[in-house]
Amino acid sequence: MSNPSPLNISALFRFIEQLQGDRPWGKMLDAGTGVKSLQWISTLETESWAAVTASERMAQQSRLDYPKPMRSDDRLVVGNWMDEKLLAGEQFDTVLLDYFIGAIDGFAPYWQDQVLPRIRQHLKPDGRLYITALEPYVPLYRNNEVDQFVTELGRLRDACLLLAQERPYREYPAEWTLRQLERSGYQVHSCKHFGIRYGERFLRSQLGMCRQRAQRFGNPALTQSMLQHVDAVQQRGEALLAKHGALASGHDYVISASISE
Ligand SMILES: C[S@@+](CC[C@H](N)C(=O)[O-])C[C@H]1O[C@@H](n2cnc3c(N)ncnc32)[C@H](O)[C@@H]1O
Repeated sequence: MSNPSPLNISALFRFIEQLQGDRPWGKMLDAGTGVKSLQWISTLETESWAAVTASERMAQQSRLDYPKPMRSDDRLVVGNWMDEKLLAGEQFDTVLLDYFIGAIDGFAPYWQDQVLPRIRQHLKPDGRLYITALEPYVPLYRNNEVDQFVTELGRLRDACLLLAQERPYREYPAEWTLRQLERSGYQVHSCKHFGIRYGERFLRSQLGMCRQRAQRFGNPALTQSMLQHVDAVQQRGEALLAKHGALASGHDYVISASISE
């Protein structure tokens, strides 16, 4: 427990609270956990929660930043959903997939079509599934300078990750997710998009990631020129932020679903 500061709960989580209404959260599963989703869950009246991550580091950070004592039935589990034994036989009233499907490529590449059937066995027949995700934007250029910049920034970050021998995220559009839900035996209740406004913190974190990964290219000349390029992108980003206040570009979405009858 290291975080007495007020929690910053995202608009997407607030929207899920509205969707949930008076329905009890019951036993909750955070299938791709991290600091933010677990902090949100700490504010809900759950009976207990299980939070899964494939990353030991993510588990440690989530535990450190959890803002209150964990109850005896709350569990942080490090495991991979490809493992059939993970949480075998357990069912939950509420299941959250928070920016999870986009991250699967790093831990279970080419398995994205299997994840919704895999998770289905853990949702009670009258339970609710909530998915938050980012519409893909890296492959797109659009017609205004902000969209173009945000897209370039995403391309730059992914290029640096690849050159540093890592796998970037692979986001999926809402249409893909809706199709997979229907194929996997879920009934979709709602799907809503939210415009994103990126700020200074996003710019710094993305470029910080690029600078860090550039040190691992294994080619000093490439590292040097990439660092110069990153500095130039930072200047352009700061100028755009000064001009527009925030970089309004792209969308997140929230889907709610249950098991079809
Ligand atoms: C982008 S993070 C999720 C963000 C998180 N909800 C938060 O609030 O910060 C993606 C999570 O999904 C997990 N994940 C991705 N693929 C997985 C897999 N195949 N099995 C288990 N966890 C996986 C990652 O380990 C990570 O914990």
